[in-house]
Amino acid sequence: MMRTIRVQLGAASHDAHVGANILDELGNLARAAGLKPGSCAIVTDATVEKLYAARVEDALRKSGFAPVVISVPPGEASKSLAMLEQLYDRMTAAGLDRNSVVFALGGGVVGDLAGFAAATFLRGVPIVQVPTTVVAQVDSALGGKTAINHRHAKNLIGAFYQPQLIVADVATLATLPDREFREGLAEVIKYGAIMDAPMIGDLERDLDAILARNPALLEQVVARSLMHKAAVVGADEHESGLRKTLNFGHTVGHAIEASAGYGSYFHGEAVAIGMVAAARLSSKYAGFSADEASRLQRLIERAGLPTAMPSGWYSDDFLRALALDKKRTAGAIEFVLLDRIGHSLTRSLSFDDIMSSVS
Ligand SMILES: NC(=O)c1ccc[n+]([C@@H]2O[C@H](COP(=O)([O-])OP(=O)(O)OC[C@H]3O[C@@H](n4cnc5c(N)ncnc54)[C@H](O)[C@@H]3O)[C@@H](O)[C@H]2O)c1
Ligand SMILES: [Zn+2]
Repeated sequence: MMRTIRVQLGAASHDAHVGANILDELGNLARAAGLKPGSCAIVTDATVEKLYAARVEDALRKSGFAPVVISVPPGEASKSLAMLEQLYDRMTAAGLDRNSVVFALGGGVVGDLAGFAAATFLRGVPIVQVPTTVVAQVDSALGGKTAINHRHAKNLIGAFYQPQLIVADVATLATLPDREFREGLAEVIKYGAIMDAPMIGDLERDLDAILARNPALLEQVVARSLMHKAAVVGADEHESGLRKTLNFGHTVGHAIEASAGYGSYFHGEAVAIGMVAAARLSSKYAGFSADEASRLQRLIERAGLPTAMPSGWYSDDFLRALALDKKRTAGAIEFVLLDRIGHSLTRSLSFDDIMSSVS
């Protein structure tokens, strides 16, 4: 079975397919989306290459594509200008032209890097996102944000560039390490918290099977998450308003990541702590019931995610990181809160307000 979500973005509208083992259909799906066969690139990282590149090559060849595999080292460090330059070199050497498709096979690192390369190579060649992590399948593959990092800041250099197609094979999640799998669930819980109350109930019911990576349930959860992200992005492609609600849990989350040193907490783990803090602030400032706040916290705990930093941890570094948050406005921070599960709003909060929720 396969589910298809239509991402409505005017001329940039495209499909997102979700299913188990649809990797083997990639060539057919790309042809059906109107992409031209011929020379193309599979951009991936060394870990994902070993696991899935051969299957993707076969699937593409079967449909008349002639792929070259371009592999980068796994990890955030590959979102660099140096790696981008290597990509351009390899794409040029492979003789790619303006119709040549770039297939981004991997997690968010590969998706962001290959997406930016595709956005800029020959002023833009088509990109197909083939996400293989939970984070990439429920979040980064959809929305058109592409970027590399700069020594001064994450994602400093980038572009909005929509894919022609998204193909999320949930069977690939079977090989994802446990910690990476669980961190992705933070974003899944986020969608339920901000816009889909029944989804929280379903997650409570199905969590054990999801953690066991039951393909049918993964398909359901990924499709539902993508549907929500598609709705938000479709209404606000360039993040002028509504799309900010996707930052639920991220204001505190980003500050934790930055002040703890990138890498010591995974993004999803920091967001999990941030969501618990935001739930507490929601009770204080948005009438969110204490019962619902603890319900959300219990679900986050059951997903194996952290809900708090060690006591006494919050420091000047954390405050500084919070102050640098780009959503800040003259002394206060625009914060996404819940007034009930499944419904969000934004409020301006001060540093003191926020500190009271975390320490
Ligand atoms: N563009 C966006 O809107 C957006 C949104 C969220 C995150 N991001 C970006 O995404 C990146 C994080 O993405 P990520 O969490 O997917 O990390 P990642 O791409 O580094 O993947 C995590 C690890 O899992 C491995 N891996 C990937 N798929 C696998 C599989 N199926 N089986 C086994 N191992 C596998 C990778 O090799 C890597 O080591 C960050 O750079 C972040 O900035 C972008
Ligand atoms: Zn996130």
